[in-house]
Amino acid sequence: MGFLGRCPECGKWDSMLEEVKKEQKRISKTPNSAQPLNTIEVEDKERVTTGCGEFDLVLGGGVVLGSVVLLGGRPGIGKSTLMLQVAFDLAKGGDAVLYVSGEESLAQIKMRSNRLGVDKGANLYLLSETNFEVIVSEIESLKPRYLIIDSIQVVYDSELSSSPGTISQVKECARKLTRIAKENTISTFLIGHVTKDGSLAGPMVLEHIVDTVLYFEGESFLSHRILRAVKNRFGSTNEIGLFEMSEAGLKEVKDPSSVFLLQEDEQVAGNVIVSTLEGTRPLLVQIQALVAKSYLGIPLRRTIGLDHNRVSLLTAVLERRGKFGLYNQDIYVNVVGGLKINEPAVDLGVILTLASSLKNSSLPRDLVVFGEVGLAGEVRKVSFAEKRIKEAVKLGFKTCLIPCGSLSEKNKFDIKIIEVSNIREALQILE
Ligand code: TYD
Ligand code: MG
Repeated sequence: MGFLGRCPECGKWDSMLEEVKKEQKRISKTPNSAQPLNTIEVEDKERVTTGCGEFDLVLGGGVVLGSVVLLGGRPGIGKSTLMLQVAFDLAKGGDAVLYVSGEESLAQIKMRSNRLGVDKGANLYLLSETNFEVIVSEIESLKPRYLIIDSIQVVYDSELSSSPGTISQVKECARKLTRIAKENTISTFLIGHVTKDGSLAGPMVLEHIVDTVLYFEGESFLSHRILRAVKNRFGSTNEIGLFEMSEAGLKEVKDPSSVFLLQEDEQVAGNVIVSTLEGTRPLLVQIQALVAKSYLGIPLRRTIGLDHNRVSLLTAVLERRGKFGLYNQDIYVNVVGGLKINEPAVDLGVILTLASSLKNSSLPRDLVVFGEVGLAGEVRKVSFAEKRIKEAVKLGFKTCLIPCGSLSEKNKFDIKIIEVSNIREALQILE
């Protein structure tokens, strides 16, 4: 390839990297032929429970034998901790588990396992290595049932000419490991770091190679962590797993409301929990509003994390249709946790939190709200109502305020559902 100084796509100078791919020979193995569907037999004992309930739940009921799972998350969120704990639980079942760390020395992992109280794992083998060939030869001699690679970004194959850490290295190593996993029925977990802005820069390119993609999320200043599946060939992606990072590793959270509802001693006016979809993932987020008498000719309207125009529109709707006097009030609206939302499903929540702040009357603390609001004050249906409600149930909320007609069957969820068709009906919850 000749030198290309400027990227033809984005126009940036000096941003092109050369990646040369070596010719790969195709080795044809045993002849393969198509089979009639009804003659294909499926092995019965397909899944193994790890002993970690939340982890099993997110996977769809345990680890599928020979499957490949990608675990993504920001550095420092607790991926190595989680996988070491899971590795130890799996090793207790009697099968060999190989934990390959390319980021830490054996002594560091041993120290962590002492801290986690999992230092007596006889079937748990540790290898500190980044060279792909060495890892493969260890897999061949040990023949583990489970394999953990921490992390896939540091593994490199010297057969490839591209340098370690490049996308083609990461992709090729993941592809080869997947083939090994399938051919030898080794359940494999690949850990992948996500960059700060949340995009899976490295792991994103792996999503279609692996069977299951899990994300481990949380705020580093809070102790709770959420594990969720964004892709799962062997189960649903509805379930989330909740953990709490403690002095001695990750603890499963069996009672989610203990984490999410006890942060404030009492509910303050101007707070609401809304349900928003991030990609395909439902997220419960807190929105705060402060409405205060203005001493300016033109009152202030400030929003963080929401579209400014949308909030102005909702303010006007509340004023006109809800008969609230906001013309002489400064208004501040903030999404807690630094998230940016641009989904109309949070409209109803914004209306309620504004009204709550103005009336100085708090909303129930176990309430989740979603619904789009129109100019006439009508509350419109939003997509994936069931998914949002399931998330609220999972996190221990007790009441859900939703648009009329969102559900075909109201009583199938373990939560009180209040349906509203306009904002006046919704505002009754403040009375
Ligand atoms: P780690 O698993 O190393 O994160 P990752 O592999 O995702 O980069 O965990 C990092 C953080 O977790 C670190 O800041 C220390 C903290 N931690 C605990 O609070 N308790 C523990 O028992 C362990 C092992 C780690
Ligand atoms: Mg790590």
